[in-house]
Amino acid sequence: MKFFLDTAHVPHIREAASAGLVDGITTNPTLLSREEGDPREIILEIAKIVDGPINAEVVSLETEGMVREGLEWRKVSENIVVKIPMTLEGLKAIWTLSEQDVPTNCTLIFNPIQALMAAKAGATYVSPFVGRVDDIQSSGMEVVQQIVQIFQNYEIETEVIVASIRHPMHVVEAALMGADISTVPYDVLKRLSQHPLTDAGIERFLADWEKVKGRS
Ligand code: E4P
Repeated sequence: MKFFLDTAHVPHIREAASAGLVDGITTNPTLLSREEGDPREIILEIAKIVDGPINAEVVSLETEGMVREGLEWRKVSENIVVKIPMTLEGLKAIWTLSEQDVPTNCTLIFNPIQALMAAKAGATYVSPFVGRVDDIQSSGMEVVQQIVQIFQNYEIETEVIVASIRHPMHVVEAALMGADISTVPYDVLKRLSQHPLTDAGIERFLADWEKVKGRS
């Protein structure tokens, strides 16, 4: 499973990339609004760090505007993926862009049929938002399971990005289900590497090594 980082915060991207953990980046208007400066400049800086897909989202609600914005984003870097919300207008934009070989990520997906429609429209990626589904007392991971199953049934090549991840178990379950990608907030990425027994183990090894000191 590939790891994308779900952030526009360059220092976090640099750090995670230095451990080889960033196969791509997802941003959205909210994430970009938290950073200082021109969003295009931020995306450009990210694209210089990360070789893989960099997702930048459109904010128009009509197909024509979405396509125009998508093509503008593509001028920033050749590895931009145009992120488009799951609406009928969005599906038309995905179809139009796919005919021009522009990669797209259909975002704000909350059920398997939305994912299937996005795939039929030609989306390169679909992004089910698991945390936000959980927030309304439903199961986000069940939605992912259904999407993965449907895509397998019909040998659909669109990749599934598990998004709106809130905790490490979302990532574990995504990997067990065979989702292609988890897009992970930085704090969750850090927690994925941690275990109390690892910390206790390091502490014990260091304490024992103290006893060996001075022997040579
Ligand atoms: C994914 O592409 C989105 O940027 C993101 O995962 C949204 O997550 P949130 O529900 O934590 O805002």
